[in-house]
Amino acid sequence: MKKFKKWGVSLALVALMVVVSACGGNNNNGGNASPSPAESSAAPAAESSAPASESASESAPAASDKKVVLGFAQVGAESGWRTANTNSIKESAAEAGFDLKFSDAQQKQENQIKAIRSYIQQKVDVIAFSPVVESGWDTVLKEAKDAGIPVILTDRSVDSKDTSFYKTFIGSDFVEEGRKAGQWVVDQYKDSQEDVNIVELQGTTGSAPANDRKAGFEEIIKSNAKLKVIASQTGDFTRAKGKEVMQAFLKAHKDIDVLYAHNDDMALGAIQAIEAAGLVPGKDIVIISVDAVKDGMTAASEGKINFIVECNPLLGPQLMQAVNDVLANKEIPQRIVTEETTFTSEQAKEALPNRKY
Ligand code: AHR
Repeated sequence: MKKFKKWGVSLALVALMVVVSACGGNNNNGGNASPSPAESSAAPAAESSAPASESASESAPAASDKKVVLGFAQVGAESGWRTANTNSIKESAAEAGFDLKFSDAQQKQENQIKAIRSYIQQKVDVIAFSPVVESGWDTVLKEAKDAGIPVILTDRSVDSKDTSFYKTFIGSDFVEEGRKAGQWVVDQYKDSQEDVNIVELQGTTGSAPANDRKAGFEEIIKSNAKLKVIASQTGDFTRAKGKEVMQAFLKAHKDIDVLYAHNDDMALGAIQAIEAAGLVPGKDIVIISVDAVKDGMTAASEGKINFIVECNPLLGPQLMQAVNDVLANKEIPQRIVTEETTFTSEQAKEALPNRKY
């Protein structure tokens, strides 16, 4: 019995020494054992659950205790494009092994500002967001900067003069999208002897895509005085509003030739209104839209939308790369522009079977 006791004490002493030396190794941050910038700046797990946000962290691999914590303040769920964008961000964050804090602002700037402030309080590693509107961000962006939290803009930009408020802006060139839409109209009606009456469904008032798609379109169509925008109103990027505003346009104007919708969802809503009025979309009224999401491409392949300018929502992989680069203190460009194309009805028919969103 005594013999066993002695052995027990010796084994316990050896075990204690092993534990002490292992702890000493961790504290001694020398050699090549120093943590990466991303690891060293990760927020403690206890701080990582925001009450107002839904976390995607459950699905991320539990490889390390010190995951990169990314706070993302999304615009809302107003369109098929937005759903695809949200899915891309959630999937890419899970693949990257990040702890994603995700909030949906329901198209309200005040909700986004609240979410950003909550991410600052939680000391997340990086904040990313897609601003609902362009103006009014300086105060909260300065708060993030003062807290030493880098900010990345995706999809939409802000009009802040101080570009040091954010590390980069990843997204489409919306002015160029408007120009592409305008150029197609100019080409279609180059020989027209009569006025071409255009109605426009704008995106959310004050948002970058609404401002820029309008500006780009106007810049190009002004080369032909026959092209006239006879009515222009917001449809807030939603199907329901697109339908409602198109109904009003049809009531007020008997001679609409062209509809330019700033996104597919509004065009799809407008198609319902056009059909209900006994007209044929794509023939009686020529339709141009932006996005090229599956529903829009389906309508284009059926000839109901004549031309779609692509706006790519799959920004997740580029965003996660930028987060890693920023945390590793790598130089990244202030602007990362997404590559995009356009589709006629014929091209939409061809592309539809392989469309990812
Ligand atoms: O900011 C991108 C725009 O927002 C998309 O074109 C539109 O569908 C979305 O709601």
